[in-house]
Amino acid sequence: MQNSAAPYGLIEDAALAVQNEHIVWVGSSDNIPENIEQDAVMWIDLDGATMTPALIDCHTHVVFGGNRAAEFEDRLRGIDYQQASRKKGGIVSTVAATRGLSEEALLDQAAARVLRLRQDGVATIEVKSGYGLDINTETKMLRVARQLRSRCDVDIATTWLAAHALPAEYAGRARDYIDEVAVAGLVSACKLGLVDAVDAFCEGIAFSTEEIRPLFEKAGQLGLPVKIHAEQLSHCGGTALAAEFGACSADHLEYIQEADVEALKAKGTVAVLLPGAYYTLGQYRQPPVDLLRRAGVPVAIATDCNPGSSPLTSLLLAMNMACNLFGLTPEEALVGTTRNAARALGRQYDLGVLQVRKRADIAVWDIEHPSELSYRMGFSPLLSLYRGGRLVV
Ligand code: NIG
Ligand code: FE
Repeated sequence: MQNSAAPYGLIEDAALAVQNEHIVWVGSSDNIPENIEQDAVMWIDLDGATMTPALIDCHTHVVFGGNRAAEFEDRLRGIDYQQASRKKGGIVSTVAATRGLSEEALLDQAAARVLRLRQDGVATIEVKSGYGLDINTETKMLRVARQLRSRCDVDIATTWLAAHALPAEYAGRARDYIDEVAVAGLVSACKLGLVDAVDAFCEGIAFSTEEIRPLFEKAGQLGLPVKIHAEQLSHCGGTALAAEFGACSADHLEYIQEADVEALKAKGTVAVLLPGAYYTLGQYRQPPVDLLRRAGVPVAIATDCNPGSSPLTSLLLAMNMACNLFGLTPEEALVGTTRNAARALGRQYDLGVLQVRKRADIAVWDIEHPSELSYRMGFSPLLSLYRGGRLVV
């Protein structure tokens, strides 16, 4: 509950009123205004449970075929992620499995992951393409992502990530791939109304800033916000590029430098930290949380659910990892999966806080204090989940 003066904005013994899917009043149950009490058609007694905004997973790749358990075994034998990717493992191996699956099969598999996330109180999920690397399969991925809305009763934000890796048929021709697939496919998927945002992977094993630039320019012409996978394994300049384009978010960020932090701050870009990938890849270099904190850059936390670097379908565990591995406070972790995650999706106008005029997306938990959400591992204290005031779980 929101009370800006108290830690977590907590209101003890609170009440909240919903009308037409939106919050119309929130405060202490001693102060419910008369008109609210009279207008209400139904009161739900939560019996002392804790309410928070429904959680938001603002960075996932839940639509994919196959798995990468063999690459996991290789990694434990000492073949790292970048070596695997150069050996035709990595992202490109998931591409073969994803191209080979029907839309129905992809939807079934993705729905199982989304339902698992929903059990953690997640009501809004960002879903990226990026395992098709041809126009048809990238578009198919986003069609599947959109179908997850009705299949799983969650809100889905779709992201065009064709610039995720270079497929074998374009080896040595990254610029042609960007023009012919990433940009051309974006234009057609956008016409079909399938794209909410545009993302790219800026890294030695993926694309350079100069390769990504024309894609971001096209996104701007189409009126689409951009975001980026940047400085995950090395410093390649993706964060500065994203800030130049006024990105909603820059994600990963283990290798960002002070100037990048300033650029994020100047543009109001959210830093999305992905501890599941850091943990899975056995990285040692943490994102500079203190620098981000001191600069006042909004920080969000997400699962990065994907078959390679983060086979994680628990946002609560990602919050726990953000605290234990990156040094966030449990309050920062909760803000990172609610208010700041909404902002990373450009949805701060209607999601992420329990305030009048926001959508009534609410998670109800069997906990005594919000710090418990980050404290446990492998256990969800969710009692119920509401979307627009309607009971979903
Ligand atoms: O966010 N960094 C790039 N993309 C994904 C990994 C995708 C994969 O390995 O399949 C990530 O970590
Ligand atoms: Fe990712």
